[in-house]
Amino acid sequence: MTPRPIIIDCDPGQDDAVALFLAMSSPDELNLLGITAVAGNVPLALTELNVRIMCDVADRRDIPVFAGCDKPLRREAITAEYVHGKTGIDGMDVFEPDTPLQEQHAVDFIIETLLQAGKAPVTLVPTGPLTNIAVALKKRPEIAENIEEIVLMGGAMREGGNRTPSAEFNIIADPHAADIVFNCGRPIMAFGLDVTHKVLSTEARVQRIADLGNNVSDATAGMLSFFHRYDTEKYDSPGTPLHDPITVAYLLRPDLFKTKYCNIAIETESELTMGHTAIDFWYVSGREKNAYWGYDVDADGFYELLTERLARF
Ligand code: BDR
Ligand code: CA
Repeated sequence: MTPRPIIIDCDPGQDDAVALFLAMSSPDELNLLGITAVAGNVPLALTELNVRIMCDVADRRDIPVFAGCDKPLRREAITAEYVHGKTGIDGMDVFEPDTPLQEQHAVDFIIETLLQAGKAPVTLVPTGPLTNIAVALKKRPEIAENIEEIVLMGGAMREGGNRTPSAEFNIIADPHAADIVFNCGRPIMAFGLDVTHKVLSTEARVQRIADLGNNVSDATAGMLSFFHRYDTEKYDSPGTPLHDPITVAYLLRPDLFKTKYCNIAIETESELTMGHTAIDFWYVSGREKNAYWGYDVDADGFYELLTERLARF
């Protein structure tokens, strides 16, 4: 089987970092063409640095890393240091990585890669605000033809919001970008809080990862332990939801998930519900279906997969 070409567009973020590790652990299935950073959990200068740190930790300095947009399309930037810590990856040691930052802008890398994709369309895996992807689609709409699928983390239906009562962080961080992406006409697989809140990093699960004893598992266990403190208090749950690696897990093991094809529309007008994902799960709107919505997951199967893959480092 030829590995599926992917670009991960992210804002590390402890959970973005784990998504990167999961992808890097799976070269038979995934060909990671490049990693693009966007402003999100922390400012761009830190997200691109954090991506490069992960490449060093995983000994994958060969993967090209690009910095993209440093602010949302129309709104003021928001960040989430109160969740992720000052560095975005609190819980592991931060250092100056050897992995270089490419000079090319992330948006131009995405455009160039898609234009050259030809018969091997590329899957985009966004795990942060959707600014880079939206700007690329705006700049060169013809790239859409070469997108095989967009598998993203963002939104919420049954779980409500985590940044406001109605909105999940990645979508409210740039709702106008999300609106462009959800209407781009290409297959979209969206995993939001309805799934990620079922994937809890309990102490026992994190301990199994820590016991693996390699560089990547040490970094992962450290970051998940940090994450644990904030989220277990917020949600009164036995572990923190692990959001972003769900996207990569879906590419590796789609059988672990339940999804439904429906219409997903983004609120871009109302300040009260800005960034809300209006998911027509019961087909009551008459709006055309445009995306698959993930609504269930085999959480034990997910942690089995993650632990087994991290053991490869
Ligand atoms: C999403 O927001 C960020 O805090 C996480 O990295 C994840 O992508 C969850 O709402
Ligand atoms: Ca993220």
